[in-house]
Formats: sequence, C-alpha cells, structure tokens
Amino acid sequence: MTDDPAGAVGYPAGRARLAGKVAVVTGGGSRAEGYGTGRAAAVLFARNGARVLVVDRDRAAAEQTVALIEDDGGIAEAHVADITVADSCQEMAEHAVRTWGRLDILDNNVGVEGAGTILEADWQQWDEVMTVNVKTIALASAAALPYLSRDGGAIVNISSISAFRPRGLTPYSTAKGAVIALTRAMAVDHAGSRVRVNCIAPGPIYTPMVYAAGMSPEVRERRRRASPLGIEGTAWDVAHAAVFLCSDEARYITGVVLPVDGGVSLRSPER
Ligand SMILES: NC(=O)c1ccc[n+]([C@@H]2O[C@H](COP(=O)([O-])OP(=O)(O)OC[C@H]3O[C@@H](n4cnc5c(N)ncnc54)[C@H](O)[C@@H]3O)[C@@H](O)[C@H]2O)c1
Repeated sequence: MTDDPAGAVGYPAGRARLAGKVAVVTGGGSRAEGYGTGRAAAVLFARNGARVLVVDRDRAAAEQTVALIEDDGGIAEAHVADITVADSCQEMAEHAVRTWGRLDILDNNVGVEGAGTILEADWQQWDEVMTVNVKTIALASAAALPYLSRDGGAIVNISSISAFRPRGLTPYSTAKGAVIALTRAMAVDHAGSRVRVNCIAPGPIYTPMVYAAGMSPEVRERRRRASPLGIEGTAWDVAHAAVFLCSDEARYITGVVLPVDGGVSLRSPER
C-alpha cells in the first residue's frame, strides 16, 4: 500500500474537526492498490475524529480501508452494498445509526468513467454511467436524510471538472454536470432540515481510478503540467476538501461546487 505524505496532515488529539460525528463514505474502498478519493476521505474523516462506515460492493476493498483506519487508531466498520439499489442504501444508513446511534456525514464518492461522443454511445453504458454517478447520490442521500443530524448534518458529492471542461467523455461529463445540479437542488430542498449539501469537482487526480488500467509516464506528466501550479493532485487533496466541507467550520456553506484541480480549469481547453 503506497501512502502519501500529504495524508499525514492531520490535527492533534482534541482538535479533531469531526469529533463525535458519524460518517458514511460510499465507494470507500479503492478499485486497486493505493488511495482512491473514497479511501482517503474515509481515512481523513477517521483521523479527524469521526466514526466511519466504509461502504463498497467489494468487501476486500472496504475491509482494507477499515484496516488502515484501525491501524491509525481510528474507528470504522465495513459495509458491503451495491448502492445502485434503494434497499441496500436503506440498510447502509440503518447500519450506521444502529452501530453508532447517529449519522452526520454522507460522502457520495462512487463514480464510474464513460467515454465517447453521443454518436459513439453504447446506450446501456450510458444508463450505467448515469445510474452510478448520479442516481446513487439520490438513493444514498434519500436513505440518509431522515437520520442526518439537524445540527451539523452534511453531504458532499463528488463531481468532476469534466462537467465544465468537456474532453470527449460525454456520458461522464453529462453525469458529473447532473451531480452539480443535484447538489444545488438538494442544498435548497434540505436547508430547512439544516443539512448542508456541497460538491467537489476534482481535476486530474492520480488515483487507482486513472492508473489501475495503466498510465504512461508521459500521460501522467501531461496531467501534472495541466495545472498552473505544476503539481500533481492526489486523493488526499480531495479528501481534505471533503473534511472541510463536512466540518462545522463550513456551517455557512451550502450548494457550492469546489474545484480541487490545481487551477487546471482556469486555463482555456486549447492550451
Ligand atoms: N481520479 C480522478 O482523476 C477523478 C477526477 C474527477 C472525479 N473523480 C471522481 O472521484 C471519484 C473516484 O473515487 P475513487 O478514487 O474512490 O474511485 P475508485 O474507483 O478507486 O473506488 C470506487 C469504489 O467504489 C466502489 N463501487 C463502484 N460502484 C459501486 C456500487 N454500485 N456500490 C458500491 N460500491 C461501488 C468500487 O468497488 C470501488 O472500490 C468518482 O466519483 C470519480 O468520478 C476522479
């Protein structure tokens, strides 16, 4: 398991930002060795004092994240579920509440790629991309909302800069655009329940999602150079943003789309 020193940026005991809270992270495993954004968020939520339900359809991946949290002195449980299924989302929320008596945070991290134009579309894949990226957020959130704390309840949804910087991944861009619209609608719909709903739009992040199938050093370097800062994004960058958005420090922030992209989306596409 490769670690990243950026993930070690934690908070001393007693200053944990999420102390006393219970968090659910969907897709909290990783598709391959290393840290995806779900695994990194689960680790940082726990490092900041939250008890974490790590939800994944891949048992081994979820258990690996739990082991990392426990090795780190944190508290977590694995929950195996396919969150495209409404009943499974219900069981997921009930598991967290049954185990720890409350629910404060939902990180809707699950996502899947989808390439090509509409002329090249495989319509079955199109439906799957919409379901996995968008409908899972609605299903998991609908299951969690009745339990989410009226005092500090927070949802964070993972979109992508592909939503506003399309680049030939049209089903993915469409789905991630819908994640932004869904975030803003949910922020309004559930503000009365004092639940905040925000969204992170990661840029090119070096995670198993992008390197598991193989990535040449040239492509990796091109992704790094796309950032005006000239640095490579890691899962920890996304996870730190999720910790902030789900903490009480963000109590006056709802409905925002926070790019975590090293400034990539500031540049014109032809650059
Ligand atoms: N890496 C990047 O460059 C980048 C950029 C923009 C956005 N994103 C987004 O970040 C998120 C990536 O998350 P990650 O790094 O944790 O990805 P990952 O693929 O490593 O992990 C996702 C986990 O979700 C699980 N999963 C998939 N479908 C599921 C389902 N139906 N039910 C339960 N579990 C399921 C998988 O088993 C896997 O363990 C996605 O939403 C992705 O679109 C990534």
